Order: sequence, then structure tokens, then C-alpha cells
Amino acid sequence: MIIGNRLISLAAAFFMAASCCRPAAENPDIVPFPQNVELKCGAFDAAGADIRYTGDADTAVAALAMRFADRLSLVTGQESRFISGHKGKGVNLIRDTSLSGEAYVLEVGRRRVILRASSLRGFNWGLQTFRQMLPPAVYGDSLAAGEDWSVPCCRISDSPRFGYRGLHLDVARHFFGVDMVKRYIDIMEIHKLNTLHWHLTDDQGWRVQIRKYPKLTGIGSIRRQTLVGHLDSSSVYDGKPYGEGMWYTQDQIREVVSYAAARGITVIPEIDLPGHMVAALAAYPELGCTGGPYEVWQKWGISDDVLCVGRESTMEFLEDVLSEICELFPSEYIHIGGDECPKVRWAHCPYCQKKIAELGLKDDGKYSAEHYLQSYVSERMEKFLAERGRRIIAWDEILEGQISPDATVMSWRGTSGGQEAARLGHDVIMTPYEYLYLDYYQSEERENEPLAIGGYVPVEKCYSFEPFTADMTDEQKAHILGVQANMWTEYISGDDHLEYMLLPRLAALSEVQWCQPGNRSWERFLGSAPELCARYDAAGYTYAKHILGNRE
Ligand code: ACM
Ligand code: ZN
Repeated sequence: MIIGNRLISLAAAFFMAASCCRPAAENPDIVPFPQNVELKCGAFDAAGADIRYTGDADTAVAALAMRFADRLSLVTGQESRFISGHKGKGVNLIRDTSLSGEAYVLEVGRRRVILRASSLRGFNWGLQTFRQMLPPAVYGDSLAAGEDWSVPCCRISDSPRFGYRGLHLDVARHFFGVDMVKRYIDIMEIHKLNTLHWHLTDDQGWRVQIRKYPKLTGIGSIRRQTLVGHLDSSSVYDGKPYGEGMWYTQDQIREVVSYAAARGITVIPEIDLPGHMVAALAAYPELGCTGGPYEVWQKWGISDDVLCVGRESTMEFLEDVLSEICELFPSEYIHIGGDECPKVRWAHCPYCQKKIAELGLKDDGKYSAEHYLQSYVSERMEKFLAERGRRIIAWDEILEGQISPDATVMSWRGTSGGQEAARLGHDVIMTPYEYLYLDYYQSEERENEPLAIGGYVPVEKCYSFEPFTADMTDEQKAHILGVQANMWTEYISGDDHLEYMLLPRLAALSEVQWCQPGNRSWERFLGSAPELCARYDAAGYTYAKHILGNRE
């Protein structure tokens, strides 16, 4: 029975009937659902099964296998050993270079499991699939006596639709400590996401240590107080300083990057520039057009105060910051933001106007000279990073003026920016707010929900997002690297609240990112919701229950 493409093989059905063999389950509750699932007769008992890796014991894959063995031992109460070097009874991880990037093949037999992949990611996604076929208690961190640890015999061959499967986290508006960021990464891992976009700086807080500019965190991480309620309906502030000690040391950044890498997850940092920089201006007022004084922002929204990019010293500041960021993050991409940068200060700043004249930038009816000034900043950053072997991602405002030649565009104001970028030959990550902003309400009954920024993105809306349009050429489709959801945290200040906004919408996102369109089914996904939620319960995750038809 091939469930992946919803065909039932008559021959297989006949064979099963003739041999009195019944597959163990109709439809394994695996999310994101694999490309091909072929169920077979019998089951494998995972309790006490050894995990073997035929490659070198001293590798990231071996570490992954060891962690899996430890977890199995913990929950089953029977020892699963990690064994390096040879194939045998138990779960065997075998490197197979004929499989592409993140693909894996998982064959579960009665006595032995074979998991083939060519990369750490492929092995991890295969293990995550195997894990989902075990009872939900495998997500807990204690002995689960009395569980049946059998896994149905099957053959699963799987690979993702998109190579970029991202999730964003804003730690500037509200800070989340290293432990929570690791937990966020664990949640991503379960859902086979491979990229964390870490939004580290904004008007309301600078959260990454930069050795050359200690005041960025010393002053820029702390705001005097915070707006209560919504921007347009409130001028009430809470009177409480926020942000003392709420930034990551460079060692902590390295710790998170390596924790993610061990799970096949790349961390892309964002230094949002040249707007969304009030926290940096508060620390170093000479970086602004007016010279300040500035305060770390206490409200949400878009500040007119941005970096004075007409001054060479500001550009040097940015290059210094990005140099340290490159030391910390090995990712191919560095996100340079570029969103929501008002031009009003530049229009009145002698330094910025002098730079505009020097560069010969002009209004052209479509964009102002100041838009082209921002394009100059992006392109300089692109060149600077390219010299260090890196590439830029920027929000879709980078299309305004002159897009930098090698920029990857993150399309957030809908999908039209992404479509235009693809037409221009640029790579694109689709993250439209109407479908994928996880700070939006999950229910129309707002009175039953924690205060959110607004909007309405229920789980089915996330699930329905399709990044390709009928009029896209194959070449344009090839430029869509993938899909990401964004977690802005103006209204999210605690760990439980963060998880509540994330789950189960992340599960819906994971199917958009992973499944081929013909393999996506809202009904099948909904049918898996109770099992999915049972896993979240076992892991101790907070999640929204609307999907279960239960508004508690
Ligand atoms: C954004 O939501 N300002 C990228
Ligand atoms: Zn200026």
C-alpha cells in the first residue's frame, strides 16, 4: 500500500489478503508526512534495540545515534547501546551516497531497521520519522513503563520539497534565554525544519555581544519601560525596566549554533539595518543623523530614527559588527534586514545628502534618491560579506530602488515581492504575513486568546499556503528556495506563550515546507492531530488546542 501518493497497489492488497498479513496501521501519524510510505506485515520491537552506525564513531552522525540510543533507553527502561562499525540486529544507520542531500530511506523489518542517508540531516530526519512511529511517550524524559514499543514494518522513502525550511525568532522585543532557544530548536528538529532565522537586534533591544562595541549590549539591551497593550490604543507604559542581562555572550551564541548544527539546523543571524536600529543609536548616538539623544525604544512600530548612512564611520561600524557576526555564525547567509526604514532623517541630513550627491543618486518618479541610498548600503554590505564568503538575505524592501545583485529576498509583505524577485533571477524565501506570521491570532474569538499583535492566522491558513503560482516558469520556481514562518515577539514575553503561538501552526508549516503538493492533505493532517498533540503533551510543550475542536 503506497500511502504517499494515495494509491493502493492492488497487487500488494492481494498479496496481503492471500498471506493473511495485515499491515499494523492504516496511516502512520507522521508530520510532515513522508513522500512514500509502504506498510508491511509485522512489527519491530524498539525496546532494548541497539543503534548501530557503520561509519566512524567520531562524527556528528554517531553523536546523533548515541543521543537516540540514550533516549530509547530512558523511556523504555531497557538498554539500547550505541555500536559503531558494523551492521547487525537493531537499528542500523548506513551511509548511502546515492541518496541526495536530506533524503532518507527507512526500512523497518521484524528484526532489523535499516536507515540509509547521505548526510547528518538525512539521518536525523529518518530518525525523527522512526521516533514518530513509537508511542508519544518517546518524547518524554522519563521511564514510560507498560508502553508497547513496537514499530510497524514498513519502507519509507522520503525527501523534502524545499531545501530551505525556516523558522524565525525575534529575541529583541522580548528576550528568550539559551535554554528556551535550544528548546525551540528541539521543536524545529521534530518537524524537520533546517534553518533558524535569529532576529538579534531591533529598536527595543540589542541582544548579541559585539566585542568592539560593548555599549550595544551594555546600554542597547535595556529599555526603560514597555508599552502596555496596542500601539494605536494605548499610551500607557508599564514603568518597568526590561532587558538587564538579556543578551547573549559570544560563547552562548556559539553554544546555540553548535547545538543546532548537531541537529542539522543552520542558524542565520539577522542584524536589521539601516532601520530598526534605535537600540544601537541609544548606545552610540553618533551613528544617527541628528546625533540624538536617543533612548532604547519603549513602544512598537517603526521609528524615523535610523542609521546615518551618509557617514563613513557608520558604514565602518556596520562592517565591524558584521565581521564579528561572521566569526560567530558559519552560515552561508547573513540576514541584513532592510525592512521598514523611513527616509525622513536622510532627507534632512547633510551627511546623507552629501553622500547622495557624491553617488549621483536621483529621484526617478518610482523611487526617491533616499531609496537608492538604502540600495547603496545593502550593496556595500553584500560586497563586504561576499569577501568573507557569505551571501545576504534581506526583507523584500530590498526590491525598492536597485536590488543588490546577489541578494536573496525574504518576501513578507505577501508573495508579490518574492514573485518579482524570482522574475528578476533572485532567490526567494516566502514568508507572507497573511499565512505565516505566528504572532497573529489563531482564533477569531480573541477574548479567549492571549493579546496578540492582530490579524488572524489559524492553523488551516498556514496549512493552505502554496508558494508556487500557476504563472511561474520552472526557472522562477527553482528560485523559490523555501518557506519560513516568522515569530515576532512584541506581544510574546514568556516561554509558554511562545510555544502556544508556535504549536501546532509549526506542524502545518512543516507540511508546506516538506510535502509535495499532491502529498499534502488537510484531512489526513487533521486526522493526525490527536497523536501530534499527544507528543506535545509528552514533551511538555504548550500548544493551541483549536485543532482538536477544544477551545480550552
Ligand atoms: C517585518 O515583518 N517587518 C519583516
Ligand atoms: Zn544622515
